[in-house]
Amino acid sequence: MAGINRPALEAALDSEREFYRSRTPRSKELFDAADHLLGRVPMTWMNKWAGGHPIHFAQAKGNRIIDVDGNEYIDFALGDTGAMAGHSPNATVRAVRNRIEGAGGITTMLPTDDAEWVAADLTRRFGLPLWSLSLTATDANRWALRIARLVTGRDKICAFSYCYHGAVDETLVRTGPGGSTIEREGNVGPAVPVAQTTRVAEFNDLESVEGALAHGDVAVLIAEPALTNIGIVLPEEGFWDSVRELCDKYGTLLLIDETHTISAGPGGCTAAWGLRPDILVIGKSIGGGVPSGAYGLTQEVADRMSDHPEADLIDVGGVGGTLAGNALSTAAMRATLDEVLTEFAFDHMIDLATRFREGVEKVLADAEVPWSIAQLGARAEYRFVDPPPRTGSESAAAHDDDVEEYLHLFMANRGVLLTPFHNMALMCPTTSASDVDRHTELFAEALQAIS
Ligand SMILES: Cc1ncc(COP(=O)(O)O)c(C=O)c1O
Repeated sequence: MAGINRPALEAALDSEREFYRSRTPRSKELFDAADHLLGRVPMTWMNKWAGGHPIHFAQAKGNRIIDVDGNEYIDFALGDTGAMAGHSPNATVRAVRNRIEGAGGITTMLPTDDAEWVAADLTRRFGLPLWSLSLTATDANRWALRIARLVTGRDKICAFSYCYHGAVDETLVRTGPGGSTIEREGNVGPAVPVAQTTRVAEFNDLESVEGALAHGDVAVLIAEPALTNIGIVLPEEGFWDSVRELCDKYGTLLLIDETHTISAGPGGCTAAWGLRPDILVIGKSIGGGVPSGAYGLTQEVADRMSDHPEADLIDVGGVGGTLAGNALSTAAMRATLDEVLTEFAFDHMIDLATRFREGVEKVLADAEVPWSIAQLGARAEYRFVDPPPRTGSESAAAHDDDVEEYLHLFMANRGVLLTPFHNMALMCPTTSASDVDRHTELFAEALQAIS
């Protein structure tokens, strides 16, 4: 990679690894003692953190985490968006307390009036009139894909190369030779080869989208409005208008997954850019950290569902889950949407992400390092290539394990956490300008040592 002194990087990486071990002995001890956990962590992804073992945290509030060794961190990872509202936001905590200690009833498989409030708010934000609740975005996506297949009578879906929509079998795809659909690297035990379920397209490449949809067998195109899971890849001017037209032309539904891109504003990119999805999925952030998610449908899709009385939506038809829409999750969503992820909070978060991007741009220009940084509302991310990648495949090619590990460790060792997946930084309502400036200062120091 241009601009990087590899021997300096190797030496710096060794010393950052050593520094990390010396700062986090208690975390290491707890990790080593976790003999009954697969991979020694509660969920195997937690081994993604750089340094050989994750920090074990003792406390988290707002955008601060304190680990079991007493180190304090400015948290730009925010649970990979699950804590975009900040850790334990006061309004959410109050609502959860009231539900558990006051009214009682965490999971009853009965509705409370919070659910209609949440659905009405999602309509206000995203426009779609009908909602069903889940506990994760993965589930919402899985259920929505089933509904799309049901109403179109088609068996395939289309997804963008290197997209991520959760652990959804059909979406773990990338482009193979000649534009073929192949599995993402490392796919664990796929039920069927993914080419049987999915046609792949490249983001920002209308020809590839039309090539996939023209077969006439694609029920739904599932997409993030901007890719965020292979670095941020922003859409080019007019891309989404043309995709909408292609979906209409070929009778394919459009599912917009706003789980990460809600960073663009209170109604995500759908509201900010005037998108017109048939189905919308949202998860992670809307419960303030309490498991939550939802899918929304247009009236037209809902009407088409009623043409299928044989489809079992109230029992074991493959859509729904026992704990979904539970009273705790719904109370958390209501409080978070009403009082935390407000328009005012988004204005503040977006201003800070702009400050973050501008700071990084200046450092890169001063150091003459040919990297780029993309911003999507309250989120920003650097990528080790300039100009920025246009597609998921281009962005994947720009990946560099060593540089990434070095930057993550350099930051963590000095009290700043980046999302363990690539270099994503997210602002929350309590992030401050000085937090952003601390990152900029460290980014300059980190780069100086390896360029
Ligand atoms: C765009 C998008 N959709 C869905 C998901 C799945 O979310 P969860 O793992 O909370 O189910 C993710 C997770 O990263 C995501 O980025």
